Amino acid sequence: MIKFEHLHKSYGEGRDAHEVLHDVNLDIADGEVFGILGSSGAGKSTLVRCINLLERPTKGSVIIDGNDVTNATGAELARLRSSIGMIFQDFNLFAQRTVLRNVTFPLELHHVSADERRTRAERLLDLVGLSDYADRYPSQLSGGQQQRVAIARALANNPSIMLCDEATSALDSTTTVQILDLLRRINREMNVTMVVITHSLAVARNICDRIAMIDGGHIVEVGETEALFRNPKSDILKTLIASADAQNHRGGTGVPGDEGGSHTAATEVK
Ligand SMILES: Nc1ncnc2c1ncn2[C@@H]1O[C@H](COP(=O)(O)OP(=O)(O)OP(=O)(O)O)[C@@H](O)[C@H]1O
Ligand SMILES: [Mg+2]
Repeated sequence: MIKFEHLHKSYGEGRDAHEVLHDVNLDIADGEVFGILGSSGAGKSTLVRCINLLERPTKGSVIIDGNDVTNATGAELARLRSSIGMIFQDFNLFAQRTVLRNVTFPLELHHVSADERRTRAERLLDLVGLSDYADRYPSQLSGGQQQRVAIARALANNPSIMLCDEATSALDSTTTVQILDLLRRINREMNVTMVVITHSLAVARNICDRIAMIDGGHIVEVGETEALFRNPKSDILKTLIASADAQNHRGGTGVPGDEGGSHTAATEVK
């Protein structure tokens, strides 16, 4: 369980300080695919980066599996980070390393033997459907393939949690569906808790069990995905659903891979 308790985050010091997360309280259950949906600048990345402490909360707590990790340092911080995988919109692969050596990288940091590194990386490349690409370089792969490598790398240390920050935003709609299917499979088969940041209503609806809507640093709504879509309470979600409906009338369903029109801004919070 990931728990945020009265979490606040400010950037800047003194008179320049501005708070970007205001009193966030949230529980994310083990094995859940949990969506964080909100417009640009709402605080999605900041909130999720507080889970692996890439950002430190200014006030309040982050509690993981009953342990308050808010002030973790040294070995405790290293242990926390190795139990959490992360993927990003722009993949962030090492250009100078082959696909295989991208995946073995986190294992090198943990002094896993060369044989074991290779075995684990090959198994993960098989899982993400890239066994034949081990010796290629990232620049020789499509965006979807690069994201699969990033997913394999994020899984190298057998994390219990995976953070996905706009992981499909750079991909076309067909590739988006494939990557979401892969993430879902990893969630089910490896029981990895997924925290999925998106500004796409369609992505959230496709993959998330529950969703938190964030607006201006406030959590304005939390609930099970379908219940939220059927009966939205926050203005931001109502507006979003209305604009997606408007698009549907023009021929698209708003679901990636199932579009009459193109996967456009109408289904996305900007
Ligand atoms: N390192 C930083 N220093 C100062 N302000 C920051 C920093 N990082 C983020 N912010 C501010 O915090 C707010 C929330 O940013 P954040 O990146 O969490 O938003 P987001 O919801 O992830 O947006 P996007 O969808 O554009 O990625 C924004 O106003 C942003 O300008
Ligand atoms: Mg962000």
